[in-house]
Amino acid sequence: MKQICVIGVGYVGIVSAACFADLGNRVIALDINENRIEGLKRGEMPIYEPGLQELIQRNVRAGRLSFTTSYQEGLDGSEFVFIAVGTPSGVDGEADLRYVATAARSIAENMKEPLIVVNKSTVPVGTGDWVADIIRKHQPEPIPFSVVSCPEFLREGSAIGDFMQPHRTVLGSLDAEAADKVAQLHLPLRAPIVITDLRTAEMIKYASNAFLATKISFINEIANICEALGADVKEVAAGMGYDKRIGSMFLDAGLGYGGSCFPKDVKALAYMAAEKGRHPQLLNAVMEINDDRRPMTVNRVKELLGDLSGKVIGLLGLSFKPNTDDMRDAPAITISDALLANGACVRAYDPVAMDAARPLLPNVEMYSDPYAMSEGCDALIVVTEWNEFKQLDLARVRDSMRQPVLFDGRNIYDPVVMKQLGFTYRGFGRGYNGSKLSLNPLGIAAEKITY
Ligand SMILES: NC(=O)c1ccc[n+]([C@@H]2O[C@H](COP(=O)([O-])OP(=O)(O)OC[C@H]3O[C@@H](n4cnc5c(N)ncnc54)[C@H](O)[C@@H]3O)[C@@H](O)[C@H]2O)c1
Repeated sequence: MKQICVIGVGYVGIVSAACFADLGNRVIALDINENRIEGLKRGEMPIYEPGLQELIQRNVRAGRLSFTTSYQEGLDGSEFVFIAVGTPSGVDGEADLRYVATAARSIAENMKEPLIVVNKSTVPVGTGDWVADIIRKHQPEPIPFSVVSCPEFLREGSAIGDFMQPHRTVLGSLDAEAADKVAQLHLPLRAPIVITDLRTAEMIKYASNAFLATKISFINEIANICEALGADVKEVAAGMGYDKRIGSMFLDAGLGYGGSCFPKDVKALAYMAAEKGRHPQLLNAVMEINDDRRPMTVNRVKELLGDLSGKVIGLLGLSFKPNTDDMRDAPAITISDALLANGACVRAYDPVAMDAARPLLPNVEMYSDPYAMSEGCDALIVVTEWNEFKQLDLARVRDSMRQPVLFDGRNIYDPVVMKQLGFTYRGFGRGYNGSKLSLNPLGIAAEKITY
């Protein structure tokens, strides 16, 4: 049984801690946020993540998982310490490393025995070396340690499955023995393990996120072109996705990416490139396309409703994606701000994110069910593709609205069905927008919708 200390009990840290405990290790999860730690000790989850509560309870009961705010306690007897603190965007788009620096310093001041410091936070290339310098500088007396980069690839909403069945584990270190010891911890996951140097491992994380963000912006660009030419981007994506070289994932046209990772990581990679005199043309285009999606949504609602002042608009979904309560860089924030600025009354319903959203959206009225929210609305906007929205009784929704107008920011509904139901329906890149009903045998539509 190995002993591991995990620093940070946010989306990555608490999932990693619970999963490592479930793999049979003794894990101490540490955070400087006392409320979070006290809550965990009482069985309250700091975040919403499906399956997390049961996993934590099981491992706490088995004596493999505990919580602390004390570095001394967390490091006492630990062979590994994982850093999983936040690395938000700084002023110019660079990663803000202040939490990593504080954690490194606390490790240095409290370690009593040799330690393997594993960086799980997404950090700029070169941070591993920098962390080693901080530790060396702040150790009261020299104690050997090694730094290993182990970037995390889990997705919120399916984090436990992603942690337990990763596509690969990436490890980077200048100390082969330390990397090998961290590899041993990951062997039960039975995934390929890529061992490389520190900087390359750090780069793999940024390159992976930037590639996925590029796929999203790519399909959004294709959606724009589909609209101009009368093709349906959903079917285009399906047709593309069967090609194994392309793959079907991350080809969903819509409101674009948000959340705590893609926006900041693409920005940080572009910053790193620019800082070294490189011109990150593709990354800049990816960000520009993504930035357009939210204002585009508001403009389309304006096209559908005219002047928004006094109009009641309901948001279906608030979190940046389904199965999480994470509101970081959620499109719902930008969209509701813009609607409110245009004089609209904005309401919202989300299955789990309303508590997290309330302080961020004080002028948005929250409803505890989607039907009550729709009543009297002039338009609805699908902001988050929660499964429960796919199963809504849309006839009931339509009958309760002042005007049956729906803008589908995630393309979850079928334009043909929506048209049959009597909705004025728009999505992103949906071609003839439901007029497939009037397709002639050659598949050429009689009328085109102009966006
Ligand atoms: N959220 C994701 O889906 C995801 C996926 C892959 C990688 N990542 C990366 O993982 C890292 C963590 O992300 P997150 O979303 O879990 O962050 P988070 O903001 O949810 O959690 C960070 C936690 O660290 C704690 N913390 C900050 N400074 C500390 C310190 N000095 N000592 C102890 N605890 C401290 C905070 O109190 C907080 O609880 C980031 O670098 C992120 O880019 C995130």
